[in-house]
Amino acid sequence: MNPDVELQLALAAAGSEHIAPVRGWVDTALDDVVTTLAMVQDYAANSADGWATALGSVRDLMMEADLYAGEVGTDFAGEAQRMGAAVADVHESLARTLGTGTVPVRAVAAGMTARLDAAVAEAPELEALAPRIRAVFDDLADGDDLEVQRIHGDLHLGQVLRTPERWLLIDFEGEPAKSLAERRTPDSVLRDVAGMARSFDYAAHFPLGDTESDARSAQREFRAREWADRNVDAFCRGYAERIGVDPRATGSTLEAYVLDKAVYEVLYEKRNRPGWIGLPLGAIERVLAAG
Ligand SMILES: Nc1ncnc2c1ncn2[C@@H]1O[C@H](COP(=O)(O)OP(=O)(O)O)[C@@H](O)[C@H]1O
Ligand SMILES: [Mg+2]
Repeated sequence: MNPDVELQLALAAAGSEHIAPVRGWVDTALDDVVTTLAMVQDYAANSADGWATALGSVRDLMMEADLYAGEVGTDFAGEAQRMGAAVADVHESLARTLGTGTVPVRAVAAGMTARLDAAVAEAPELEALAPRIRAVFDDLADGDDLEVQRIHGDLHLGQVLRTPERWLLIDFEGEPAKSLAERRTPDSVLRDVAGMARSFDYAAHFPLGDTESDARSAQREFRAREWADRNVDAFCRGYAERIGVDPRATGSTLEAYVLDKAVYEVLYEKRNRPGWIGLPLGAIERVLAAG
């Protein structure tokens, strides 16, 4: 069964309000394996996706040279906070219906290191940063066991829809590049939080274009970071208010998940949009500098 059906049925069973209910699906036996072909769910009419709304806010900020992010009429922080609460609610529902467990953090860190090594082999731009990224993953490996559960797996601003009432999460298929088995493997909720944090950074930098970072004005870069930090902060606050645990309280574990995601992005940009590779590389440098 495709996780898009599996997880949204579980969420419906948990009474979650943050999904578009699944009304039916089609499956067939392919080589004796029951495989999902299609799914029908409620159409969220009159909704706007998170990416478009967030970009509108960033563009307005960039046009108003004298205002802080919180002063622009389309400030996104209130929405980011509600989005954080919605994601926390979905995580709580998934944990309640499909259970939780623990995994040795060593194995999680080893996966991150293996993905880093593979990315460096294909994107030499990562080479100079790799030792310091590896050090973060090595530190993670020394930590406690990690609590895991089923998660969204490919969360970003394009996977949330704002209806007049609330935020909905859509597209629970997981990261397309991963195998079905990998996508169904329980993981830390921090992977979803890191996905959204990276998406806020992308939205903030997107209107700056695909120029090299040294060609951008320092002022615009400063404001992009201000917007991203403000909204990641609001998202985490909303998450913490709903579930009682602030994702940032895990410190270096969240940092490792953010780096793992940014390494994936470097590889993605290398393959698909080489002009954009500076965006995730810049983010890695900032995370390492802050850590
Ligand atoms: N239930 C829904 N109601 C309204 N629009 C939807 C719904 N599900 C998806 N969409 C729209 O279709 C787009 C792609 O859907 P998604 O499930 O994310 O598929 P993909 O695998 O192509 O990313 C979404 O970004 C959204 O704009
Ligand atoms: Mg999608």
